[in-house]
Amino acid sequence: MGSPITELTSKLRQEHALIIQEVNQIMNLAQRTATTESYCLENLQPVVQSLKEYLNLHITREEKEFFPMLEEVMGKEDVVGLLKEEHNQIRSSIQSLVDRLDASLDLDLVKEINETLRQHISKEERVLFWLVEVKTRRSREAKRVDARFPRN
Ligand SMILES: [Fe+2]
Ligand SMILES: [Fe+2]
Repeated sequence: MGSPITELTSKLRQEHALIIQEVNQIMNLAQRTATTESYCLENLQPVVQSLKEYLNLHITREEKEFFPMLEEVMGKEDVVGLLKEEHNQIRSSIQSLVDRLDASLDLDLVKEINETLRQHISKEERVLFWLVEVKTRRSREAKRVDARFPRN
C-alpha cells in the first residue's frame, strides 16, 4: 500500500487521463463539425457537459486535498494562488463554451481549452505532484533514520 500522498496523486492522475480522453473526443467532434458537412453539435453538447461536471469534481478534490500538501512543501511561494487562477480560467472557458454551444461552435475556444488543460495537467504531473511526492518521501525517510539512531 502506498502513502496517502501517492494514493492521492495516482487518483488525480487517473482523473487527468479521463479528462484528456474527453478533451480529445471534443477536439475530434469540434473539428468534424467545423470542417465537414456533418453537423455534430448535438453530439458535442453531452461530452462538453460531462467534461464540465467531471472537471468540477476534479478541481474541487485537487483544491481540497492536494493544495494544502503543496502549500506545506512550497512554503510562501504563491504557486497555489496561480493554480487556482488557472482553475478559474479553465472553468469559465468551459462555461462560455457550454453557453454558446446551442447556437454555434467556437472552434478557437475549443482549441484554447484543449491547450490550456494539457499544459495545466502536464505542469501538475511533471512538476507539482513529483515535488510533493519526493519531499514527502524524504521527510518520511528522515523520520525513520531518527527513529533508528535516536539523538539522546
Ligand atoms: Fe488542477
Ligand atoms: Fe489536475
